[in-house]
Amino acid sequence: MADEYDVVIIGAGPGGYNCAIRAGQLGLKTACIEKRDTLGGTCLNVGCIPSKAMLHASELYETARKDFSHYGIDFDQLKLNLEQMHKQKAEAVEGLTKGVAGLFKKNKVDRYNGTGRIKSKTEVEVTDADGKTQTLKTKNIVIATGSEVTPLPGVEIDEERIVSSTGALELKQVPKKMILVGAGVIGLELGSVWRRLGAEVEVVEFLDHCLPGLDKELSRQARRLFEKQGLKFHFERKVTGVEKLKTKLKVTTEKAEGGDEQTMDADVVLVCIGRRPYTEGLGLENVGIETDRRGRIANDHFRTSVENIWVIGDTTTGAMLAHKAEDEGVACAELIAGKSGHVNYDAIPTVVYTYPEIAGVGATEEQLKDEGRDYKTGKFPFQANSRGRTNHQTEGFVKILADARTDEILGAHIIGPHAGELIAELALAIEFRAASEDVARTCHAHPTLSEAVRQAAMGVEGWTMQM
Ligand code: FAD
Ligand code: NAI
Repeated sequence: MADEYDVVIIGAGPGGYNCAIRAGQLGLKTACIEKRDTLGGTCLNVGCIPSKAMLHASELYETARKDFSHYGIDFDQLKLNLEQMHKQKAEAVEGLTKGVAGLFKKNKVDRYNGTGRIKSKTEVEVTDADGKTQTLKTKNIVIATGSEVTPLPGVEIDEERIVSSTGALELKQVPKKMILVGAGVIGLELGSVWRRLGAEVEVVEFLDHCLPGLDKELSRQARRLFEKQGLKFHFERKVTGVEKLKTKLKVTTEKAEGGDEQTMDADVVLVCIGRRPYTEGLGLENVGIETDRRGRIANDHFRTSVENIWVIGDTTTGAMLAHKAEDEGVACAELIAGKSGHVNYDAIPTVVYTYPEIAGVGATEEQLKDEGRDYKTGKFPFQANSRGRTNHQTEGFVKILADARTDEILGAHIIGPHAGELIAELALAIEFRAASEDVARTCHAHPTLSEAVRQAAMGVEGWTMQM
């Protein structure tokens, strides 16, 4: 048995690996157990990174196909090389996962390749691929085991024709027709990839709108833009079954409340109705930790119901986002080391990496209305932004919501080019509890898209310089 650890972390996703690295930096004797052969979790291996690599490449392809001639760039032939597109994606994944392994070494984190199971409050058993086991003794345990795809009853994922996001990132050819079950983040991002590469894409969504949780004004605008791009939505409907025929899939749908059965043909069906915490075989019963109705482990400043066992990332409550997991990992390590780690949940941005990008931070307008808060709104369209006009990227707007009395920024929402980068300024503003006037009075370079952010803040003050 190895010497006793200060902390053993189970799972090496963004939550686990950031926790391990910070714990190592703080001088804690740290181990991290990961059952995959590579580090980085869902995010680096089959999530954020490969999906963004495919989104970037497919956007370049569509821009070349549709827009280059407008910029005066003509060429003779454009050909999709899907094999190379997958290869560049794999290169990005490999580089980043190896980077995490390097950081583990640098920060003296012991890496165990195997499945971790909590045996007692101070012992974690690791079983490697050959079935060999060893037990690690530790003062603290951090659960960072992430999440898995929520299954759709009656529809079995084979990762070839009926796929989750993992299979959808590896399709060897562009499907003629793809059906997405769920118009959430995964559906719209991966649906965009395959539509750009030539697939006809239809979306079956239970609710009456896409991207639930987003400020409704953005969700409405997003729907319009996706429809313009060729996505076909079937709202307030659900998929009840998928029959595998020799060359086609027969997809049966019904109204959300039942009835009105219809069928559609497809080559590929992507099931993307959400993710659920992954705690299978973790041994929670050995220490009396319970999960809620949705499989989540509750936490109080990352502590579970057992004092020295902590939980972070997708396995606990809150948004299932890599940067949320990362921040929790760092704060958790700091608390274990006796410091005052903290996460400000009001300042965690959300980004959907479609074209245009969609981003938000803080409260939505619906939340402020529900809370009965008095607020002011400032809005600015990219149509009136000089850089947007210069680049012919004029779709979307910036919207800032500020307290009517104090002017403090409570929420910010952007749909438009590079929204995912632009939102960082407003996350910082919320973190610093800035007033809208602070952003409005900050000099922004010209001509940049960020001037639209400033103009929206000026709009809150009532002095926007609209074109
Ligand atoms: P995970 O990343 O899931 O890592 C958990 C790790 O624990 C896994 O590697 C697993 O193998 C390991 N594990 C589980 N059980 C055990 C065990 N018993 N023993 C040992 N190891 C174990 N989020 C964003 O913020 N931005 C994005 O652009 C984005 N894109 C995404 C795209 C897709 C297609 C998907 C599926 C997700 C995306 N996400 C994105 C969400 C993001 O991936 C997750 O929120 C994030 O990975 C959660 O981190 P985590 O550390 O909690 O868990
Ligand atoms: P999601 O929660 O974003 O969307 C699921 C959608 O499916 C919802 O609109 C829901 O109403 C719908 N739905 C549920 N049951 C249904 C049914 N039976 N029939 C039809 N529709 C149904 O979940 P998604 O897209 O699977 O993503 C999972 C998680 O991964 C997200 O919560 C997100 O946190 C994370 N993620 C983040 C990304 C980012 O930050 N850019 C990218 C991809 C994933």
